[in-house]
Amino acid sequence: MLKNKTIILGITGGIAAYKAADLASKLTQAGAKVEVIMTEAAMKFITPLTLRNITHRPVVTDMFELASEWSVEHVALAEAADAIIVAPATANTIARLAAGIADDMLGTVVLATKAPVVIAPAMNDLMYSNKVTQENITKLKARGFSFIEPGYGRLASGKMGKGRLPDTPEIIAAIEAALGQKKDLSGKHVVVTAGGTREPIDPVRHIGNRSSGKMGYALAEAARDRGAKVTLISANVSLDAPADVTLVKAPTALEMKKEVEKAVKKSDVLIMAAAVADYQMEIAAGNKIKKESGKNLTLNLVKTPDILGEVKGNFIKVGFAAESENLVANAKKKLTGKKLDLIIANDITKTDSGFDADTNRVVIIDKKGKTEELPLMSKREVADKILDKVKGLL
Ligand code: PMT
Repeated sequence: MLKNKTIILGITGGIAAYKAADLASKLTQAGAKVEVIMTEAAMKFITPLTLRNITHRPVVTDMFELASEWSVEHVALAEAADAIIVAPATANTIARLAAGIADDMLGTVVLATKAPVVIAPAMNDLMYSNKVTQENITKLKARGFSFIEPGYGRLASGKMGKGRLPDTPEIIAAIEAALGQKKDLSGKHVVVTAGGTREPIDPVRHIGNRSSGKMGYALAEAARDRGAKVTLISANVSLDAPADVTLVKAPTALEMKKEVEKAVKKSDVLIMAAAVADYQMEIAAGNKIKKESGKNLTLNLVKTPDILGEVKGNFIKVGFAAESENLVANAKKKLTGKKLDLIIANDITKTDSGFDADTNRVVIIDKKGKTEELPLMSKREVADKILDKVKGLL
């Protein structure tokens, strides 16, 4: 998998920089062409000469050094890369990459590349768990960067904590996964809906639900990373917009219906992960409804249109079923009722699956009624499993 691949190895200024020598050596032995880029701080921990003797390649340390064989160094390196691994990645480098800063060679090459980027953070545990570091990591993940969780163990401070650079075999496995990243949906247009609609009661109040949008956003990012053109129709979420995805806001069921019908005109797949309200006000009040002391308030609600059931066209239709009981039976009813190709049933009564959880436990049912029960996994992994099935139907 690594043979004849060009792997850019970015080394930054953490105590674990010495381990990058082992990584460079194993990648070279596996037949990869390893192009090392070191930041200024990295050279305080390990010398370019060491890496040059391991990779038999010139080591890039300075953006303005006379170009070696590379024409316009950073662009040439970025274009030549089959994958980029930053190991160890300090909090500072992660912050700079998240901000798109390009005043050194590593930042410039990462900004200029189309290759998959794998980041292996290694730092003090408090720095790693710091909110701003985690926000930077979330931002980079939304742009399709993959991360290797740091290990737990003795840190430079002598304390035990989560912040150790993983061992070389784990890093190599992540690089191979990135290289093997299937672009099996390239050329396809995938429409995804996400989030919970809000049906106005009056200018202040609405009927909503607990959908965070995480499932839909994971599907959009996974489809993008597999080469699809993605239109994400999003109700109300507080998530960062994924990069390289067309984001359309649709806060209510009616607006979502309009946007879905527009987007599917040129699509190959529609996946509706959004939690669409089943009812809306017959007439939403124009002014804030005054609370009359001692009186009850009756709202007259009417059914919203069944977007997924009514939308027409020649594309793969995938729905979700949010169920609290008889999961498979209820999901099968929706599968046939809405004439779907697949339905993803999720039990929304558990805290670790369904609404707002980072993980989900689903049963995938196809139109022949064949069911596949998946164990609890991250919503991103669920998304990739769903797309594997969709791929089979395309
Ligand atoms: O967003 P998260 O916090 O990550 O939570 C994920 C989720 C639990 C919201 C998601 O996994 C999920 O189950 N989404 C579907 C929620 C829902 O509305 O399920 P339902 O069984 O009520 O609807 C069945 C299907 O019809 C869904 O695909 C829904 O998008 C669609 N629908 C529903 C109502 C409506 N008026 N029109 C529709 O198209």
